[in-house]
Amino acid sequence: METYQLANGLSIPVLGFGTWQAKGDDAYQAVLAALKAGYRHIDTAQIYGNEAELGRAIKEAGIPRQELFITTKIWNDKHSYDLAKESIQESLAKLGTDYLDLILIHWPNPVTLRENQAWEQANRDTWRAMEEMLAEGTTRAIGVSNFMIHHLESLLVTAKVKPMVNQVLLTPGCPQTELDAFCQEHNILLEAYSPFGTGKIFSNPGMQEMAGKYGKSVAQVALRWALQHGFLPLPKSLNPVNIAANLDVFDFELSADDMIDLDQIEASAYQSNPDERDF
Ligand SMILES: NC(=O)c1ccc[n+]([C@@H]2O[C@H](COP(=O)([O-])OP(=O)(O)OC[C@H]3O[C@@H](n4cnc5c(N)ncnc54)[C@H](OP(=O)(O)O)[C@@H]3O)[C@@H](O)[C@H]2O)c1
Repeated sequence: METYQLANGLSIPVLGFGTWQAKGDDAYQAVLAALKAGYRHIDTAQIYGNEAELGRAIKEAGIPRQELFITTKIWNDKHSYDLAKESIQESLAKLGTDYLDLILIHWPNPVTLRENQAWEQANRDTWRAMEEMLAEGTTRAIGVSNFMIHHLESLLVTAKVKPMVNQVLLTPGCPQTELDAFCQEHNILLEAYSPFGTGKIFSNPGMQEMAGKYGKSVAQVALRWALQHGFLPLPKSLNPVNIAANLDVFDFELSADDMIDLDQIEASAYQSNPDERDF
């Protein structure tokens, strides 16, 4: 698979496999199917509760560790120097690996840290732990998720290493243009989560029309849109046929006009406001 290069030179496969809401044997089977289909980049998080199943699937698949790219995310109740480090040790044990490729702060502003802007110092402390984990080789890259521009600016005040990735909701109709420009300026790669609006995109007539025009599926058009923006899409599926089809997106190109139409199409999902979520 093609790769992007992160700010520190690390190669990252341009498309990854999402695993949110995949639990137990479903998660195990889906990741095994994804690895067999050719995915080498798997996205999980501590809160998904499936790191151990992923670890089992990775072991079963028998692919050399260095050929895989594994991301996990630090959950909202671990936003401190010590808890970040401890929780990543737990993630490593569950995943059955001695290093990660990418660690992200999952959300910038947990509900418990809103008073007196406590989230700002908490993110900086968590980030310091992540910078150390990067330096000692516990992870090969570090980044954030659901960070809007003001969260990034706050983190950059003390960061010695800039986030290499920001994972946010990006789907046709929701291109997050200002955030995209800010991240490009700071050499932060945007990963596109919920590229199908968690499944809602498939009933969108405009998407169906565009898919028909290219003789491709709605999913393939949505993934192409993300790739042509320079985003890194993270499609999720439990269905082996869809898992394989979502990789088959490298043989066609959307026109510049259709990219603009897809930017402006009615979105099937929007980035939620991290400052207002109730977790
Ligand atoms: N950082 C964050 O806060 C955050 C938040 C949300 C998501 N994410 C990441 O992004 C990943 C993807 O987002 P998501 O889980 O919201 O879902 P998504 O990838 O936008 O959509 C998944 C849905 O699309 C369906 N689907 C997938 N491929 C299909 C195809 N080719 N044809 C028809 N239907 C298809 C799946 O059903 P089938 O199983 O039947 O195929 C499933 O219902 C997550 O799993 C997670 O890794 C991160």
